[in-house]
Amino acid sequence: MEQDRGQFSSKLGFILAAAGSAVGLGNLVAFPVMASKNGGAAFLIIYLFFVAFICYPVMMAEIAMGRKTTRNPVGAFSELSGGALRWRLAGMLAILTPFMIAVFYTVITVWLIVYIREIATGGLEYLSGETAFAEVVARPSLFGYLFLLLAVIFFILLGGVKGGIERLARILMPTLAVMLILLTIFVLTLDNASAGISYYLIPDFSKVNLSVINGALSQAFFSLSLGMGILITYGSYFSRSDNIPQSTRMVAIADTSIAFFAGLLILPAIFAFDPNTNTDDLSTSSVGLIFSFLPKIFLSMQVAVGYVGASVVAIIFFTLVFFAALTSLVSIIEIPIACWIDEFNLSRKKAVGVQAVLLTLFAIPAVMSLGISDFFTYFTSYGGESKSYFDLVSDVFYETILPFVGFTVCIFCAYRWKVSGLKSELEIGDAAYSGSLLEKYINFSLGTLIPVVLLVVFTSTVAQIYFA
Ligand code: PFF
Repeated sequence: MEQDRGQFSSKLGFILAAAGSAVGLGNLVAFPVMASKNGGAAFLIIYLFFVAFICYPVMMAEIAMGRKTTRNPVGAFSELSGGALRWRLAGMLAILTPFMIAVFYTVITVWLIVYIREIATGGLEYLSGETAFAEVVARPSLFGYLFLLLAVIFFILLGGVKGGIERLARILMPTLAVMLILLTIFVLTLDNASAGISYYLIPDFSKVNLSVINGALSQAFFSLSLGMGILITYGSYFSRSDNIPQSTRMVAIADTSIAFFAGLLILPAIFAFDPNTNTDDLSTSSVGLIFSFLPKIFLSMQVAVGYVGASVVAIIFFTLVFFAALTSLVSIIEIPIACWIDEFNLSRKKAVGVQAVLLTLFAIPAVMSLGISDFFTYFTSYGGESKSYFDLVSDVFYETILPFVGFTVCIFCAYRWKVSGLKSELEIGDAAYSGSLLEKYINFSLGTLIPVVLLVVFTSTVAQIYFA
């Protein structure tokens, strides 16, 4: 079965693929909005602190678990714990979570395709209208786009680690970076853009409170694709002669840089639209911002570049977001596929087929959750609100279980795999690791600091969502 697992061709291949997973809606939309609402550079500083001192050790631990075992999360937890049931269950959770996150992320990606198509056929003005989003997400034609997207994704995944995942990242990641930089330069030339830059880059510590700190950590965690089993699986495709601490640093730097640049794009664009923007009024959800607010911003650019020019800018932006979402989606859907290959001895072809059927079955009700079907739209209610099937999947898996899986990885590495096992894995390919300050910090943070911080964040998130 070994030939079915595959391996990245080089360190760069791994870095691009892992960055492809990390760079997603979280960087391009959620980060700029959070930063602008929560004190600009003050938020950025807290975020950087969390990336360096909390997320970086967890990233290395996940990658090391995968590389050591050359297994998916279930196999990795199970092998390193000597088959203990509770750790096997933790591994299963690290498969189920990405499986379900993929369900709603797929639906959001479908909306992106519809928006690109609408704008390309002259519909930017229509999309700027108040009711456009609600109309678009209730269109039965979404099914056609869903099936098309799934066909593309599973075709890529059929190509395997090197020929599919890595090749996609090698093409899309540099393209995405160039598009982002060009778009940012264009936006910075607009009138009033400087107001947005100042808003973004001048720290305002008066906005920082406990919930901002909490939000910064959750955002950093999500943005680096932690707690989803992704890095465990990608670690299993990482060569044993390469350096984990260094490659991990590159991924974290790439991800954070893209988030930073996205802020330099979005904030000036918003302030160019309205120099008196009150950022407290910006939507809290990424979805609301991309699909309802940003089309208005792009439309307003017609004063400077005409309707066609504004539409071109909007298409470039939505394509950029689409590329980011596609590489993230491919990474997350690979996790259950790796599990079917390792644990059930399926060939890649069969594993891709099984996953394609399962994801399609779960994604169809999610597409129907925003108006197509009343049953899925008003699926349940909690926290004093009616919730759709889409909301339920997102709240349970994305908001709740995700940080919990990250927490189990830390506890596992620190107490069950014992730090000595982690240490010997991190030493491979990095002769300087043993005895370094980094090693001392990893041992301390995984065992004490990080579990405590994650537990606090996890408890307060659950309290907020379910007992609002
Ligand atoms: N790091 C991704 C982001 O910032 O959007 C998180 C992610 C979400 C990865 C969903 C993969 C995925 F399917």
